[in-house]
Amino acid sequence: MLKNILVLTGSPRKGGNSDKLADAFIAGAQQAGHTTVKYATADKRIKGCIDCQTCFKKGTACSIPDDFSELAPLLEQADMIVFATPMYWFSFPAQLKAAIDKFYSFLISKRTLKIKDCALLVTGGDKDESNYEGIVTSYKLIARFLGWKDSGVIIVPGLHDKDDILKTDGLKRAEALGKNIL
Ligand SMILES: Cc1cc2nc3c(=O)[nH]c(=O)nc-3n(C[C@H](O)[C@H](O)[C@H](O)COP(=O)(O)O)c2cc1C
Repeated sequence: MLKNILVLTGSPRKGGNSDKLADAFIAGAQQAGHTTVKYATADKRIKGCIDCQTCFKKGTACSIPDDFSELAPLLEQADMIVFATPMYWFSFPAQLKAAIDKFYSFLISKRTLKIKDCALLVTGGDKDESNYEGIVTSYKLIARFLGWKDSGVIIVPGLHDKDDILKTDGLKRAEALGKNIL
């Protein structure tokens, strides 16, 4: 089945490692015929959830006006979600985490998303893949809680400078993952 894939990116570095990883995945997914939307949370203003529990009651998903009001419809249209992000402090960067926090609005308003599948593409400076456990476990627990099937986790470790990913097989792996989405 051809999918509508939402790729949420987390890095403020345009053309950086995880941004390139997102683009490689998107290239693969498009070759397979899927539709993709790339949404850079670092370019947006999304504040943290304040647990006011008035989601969708004032005309927008979140009652606090910010860019989540443009992200919410993209989430509603997606069949699959992909997180393409650097690891910050063993977890998601704040910009991406703020967007994830506001997924809460769908729970509070009892709206079901049609997202069924997900993937994680993550870069980091650390060479030791065991140090990616925090972000990978968070991702997997979110997926399990929301009933999404994990289509793959790609970790590209040991990256510091913007173009370091070009020295790895990370982009090839991300493109292959995109191509193989069913
Ligand atoms: C605020 C901040 C926190 C970071 N925390 C970690 C970390 O916990 N572990 C790690 O391996 N790398 C960490 N890094 C390094 C980035 O994950 C790494 O440079 C990554 O490749 C950047 O990806 P990008 O080019 O897509 O922005 C951190 C970088 C920043 C700016």
